[in-house]
Amino acid sequence: MVRFESLLALGLIARAVQAQSSSAAATTTAAPSCASSIAPKNGEPSVAPGWQVQVVKNELSTPRTILFDSEGHLLVLESGVGVTVMNLTQDEGGCVRADGNPERIINDESLLHGLALSLDGKTLYASSEPSVFAWDYDAAQGRNTSGPREVVSGMKNDDPNDGHVTRTLLVTRNVEGLLLVTKGSEHNYDARARNISTGSSTIKAFNMTNVTDSGYNYPQDGLLLGWGLRNSVGVGEEPITGAIYSVENSVDDFGRDGQNIHENNPGEEMNFHGYLNGTETEEQGGNYGYPDCYAAWNVSEIPDNDGLEVGMQFAIGEVEGTKVNITVNDTSCREDHVAPRLTFAAHMAPLDIKFNSNATAAWVTFHGSWDRTDPLGYKLSVIEFENGSPTAPANSTTAATDIVSNPDLSRCPDNCIRPVNLAWDSRGRLFMTSDSSGEIFVVVRADGGSTDGAGPSSGLPPSPSSSSTAPPPAESTGAAVRDAPKLSGIVAVFAGILALPVV
Ligand SMILES: *[C@@H]1O[C@H](CO)[C@@H](O)[C@H](O)[C@H]1NC(C)=O
Ligand SMILES: *[C@@H]1O[C@H](CO)[C@@H](O)[C@H](O)[C@H]1NC(C)=O
Ligand SMILES: *[C@@H]1O[C@H](CO)[C@@H](O)[C@H](O)[C@H]1NC(C)=O
Ligand SMILES: *[C@@H]1O[C@H](CO)[C@@H](O)[C@H](O)[C@H]1NC(C)=O
Ligand SMILES: *[C@@H]1O[C@H](CO)[C@@H](O)[C@H](O)[C@H]1NC(C)=O
Ligand SMILES: *[C@@H]1O[C@H](CO)[C@@H](O)[C@H](O)[C@H]1NC(C)=O
Ligand SMILES: *[C@@H]1O[C@H](CO)[C@@H](O)[C@H](O)[C@H]1NC(C)=O
Ligand SMILES: *[C@@H]1O[C@H](CO)[C@@H](O)[C@H](O)[C@H]1NC(C)=O
Ligand SMILES: *[C@@H]1O[C@H](CO)[C@@H](O)[C@H](O)[C@H]1NC(C)=O
Ligand SMILES: *[C@@H]1O[C@H](CO)[C@@H](O)[C@H](O)[C@H]1NC(C)=O
Ligand SMILES: *[C@@H]1O[C@H](CO)[C@@H](O)[C@H](O)[C@H]1NC(C)=O
Repeated sequence: MVRFESLLALGLIARAVQAQSSSAAATTTAAPSCASSIAPKNGEPSVAPGWQVQVVKNELSTPRTILFDSEGHLLVLESGVGVTVMNLTQDEGGCVRADGNPERIINDESLLHGLALSLDGKTLYASSEPSVFAWDYDAAQGRNTSGPREVVSGMKNDDPNDGHVTRTLLVTRNVEGLLLVTKGSEHNYDARARNISTGSSTIKAFNMTNVTDSGYNYPQDGLLLGWGLRNSVGVGEEPITGAIYSVENSVDDFGRDGQNIHENNPGEEMNFHGYLNGTETEEQGGNYGYPDCYAAWNVSEIPDNDGLEVGMQFAIGEVEGTKVNITVNDTSCREDHVAPRLTFAAHMAPLDIKFNSNATAAWVTFHGSWDRTDPLGYKLSVIEFENGSPTAPANSTTAATDIVSNPDLSRCPDNCIRPVNLAWDSRGRLFMTSDSSGEIFVVVRADGGSTDGAGPSSGLPPSPSSSSTAPPPAESTGAAVRDAPKLSGIVAVFAGILALPVV
């Protein structure tokens, strides 16, 4: 259990430590001269050579998920506020800005993260902790034209003071009519996730074509894409093969054989969940390990690490200093659970995964660590894909190339960008939210080429099958994470830190 007090204490400790530590990220870039530049709240981020980043809109309230409608309006879900729509200027390259005042179309403070549009663009979905709602949507007007209908229910946590509350939404493009919904665990370590009937720590797909007035019940209905997934906030569809991938936030305060090894273990995960076209894979619907089995990141720090490699599953011993009851061992973790396709450094908090239209790259946001002495993450990275899979092997520690990051991680989390969600516009530009700084950025190539078509020369790792120019993509959907919208007073001071364990 993650107790509130302990979170506050951890937050204080984390701050003290961060104040002393310092670290430097790689590169910076000259910002382009735009007619009206908006200064980034926390200074210019570090940007990989060949890339540029601009602020499109600032002073938003915890922007989480963004998407474009068919008329090019940018829709933003602000956590604990509702849904806002804005026009953008039609400038070239990175000189794109919010045009005029954004309009709040849905005022609903229960909405926390998930936002998606149906394939025909006529239904808008957004999620609260317990439910997913649908509204009729008219892109020509840039607004909903009906009130909400509850289409999925039954996702409220038993404990009102603990648990992950984001419910990420993804409308699939390869298979029509499905809405993917993710639900994280109730606690840092949630034994209920061993019971498949609770729906805790799962990803499910619901058929919206035949949804009835009573809607679906999350624990009971839907197609199970995976369970034993602690908190898979990001879920994405590879556009060529239709493969579903998710990115998972793994456990905090991990121990084994009496040693607390949480600094660098376990790793965060990218998981593969098969396809939705009816073709079965052994992964789909499988158990991915939580709360018993986890992915190794720093093997050398794991006691009794015989045979372990990066990305292999191994058994937990203690959590938050308390020995846990398990019936698994490293062998059964490997044999009976689905291993991640890629593993990332512990605590980086991946929140979104979005593919480019040619499925040669998956972009992943990392919200950043709290359960670690030196902050890590707080960046946007890109991972090379080919034929429906990452080109890097599962034991790789270098699969992700950083494109946007913070120059001084010791200033995180308070004075950093905290990437959450991504969206492509029709010109192949990539837009990114940073919730704590209230900003939306646009990420483009410095040479004016589309981000969607980015190849090795523009920031991607070298690959045998390179590609350089690109067509505009047409993707837009949501991912999810948690916020603390109901916090107030002194607690709100620590909201940024509190938000992390529940990410
Ligand atoms: C977007 O632009 C259209 C056309 O100029 C205008 O009617 C609409 O009010 C604008 N919406 C917002 C939110 O600015
Ligand atoms: C849009 O949704 C909001 C919140 O659900 C509702 O109050 C409003 O009436 C809806 N707009 C229209 C035009 O139905
Ligand atoms: C599993 O969860 C379901 C739904 O919450 C509950 O009815 C059932 O009793 C649980 N089973 C066990 C063994 O705890
Ligand atoms: C969704 O339901 C409709 C109506 O029952 C059905 O025709 C369609 O095949 C279903 N879609 C999927 C992906 O199962
Ligand atoms: C919709 O169709 C799917 C099969 O595609 C089925 O599993 C589901 O139960 C149906 N939904 C309702 C509400 O009947
Ligand atoms: C489903 O998609 C996979 C991957 O693209 C493909 O190999 C398979 O043949 C497809 N199955 C059907 C029934 O279309
Ligand atoms: C792994 O652990 C070793 C031993 O503590 C440490 O020296 C090294 O920096 C760690 N590497 C990573 C990537 O965590
Ligand atoms: C471990 O399992 C035993 C037997 O089921 C139970 O009595 C005990 O409370 C469990 N311990 C914890 C920490 O859950
Ligand atoms: C690991 O667990 C499996 C399944 O419970 C069991 O069959 C096996 O004997 C265990 N191995 C060791 C080394 O304890
Ligand atoms: C990583 O896995 C590949 C096979 O996929 C293997 O050849 C290689 O030795 C492994 N590397 C390490 C460091 O274990
Ligand atoms: C994407 O695929 C299309 C069609 O195969 C091709 O024309 C284009 O060059 C590709 N772009 C990239 C970036 O690979």
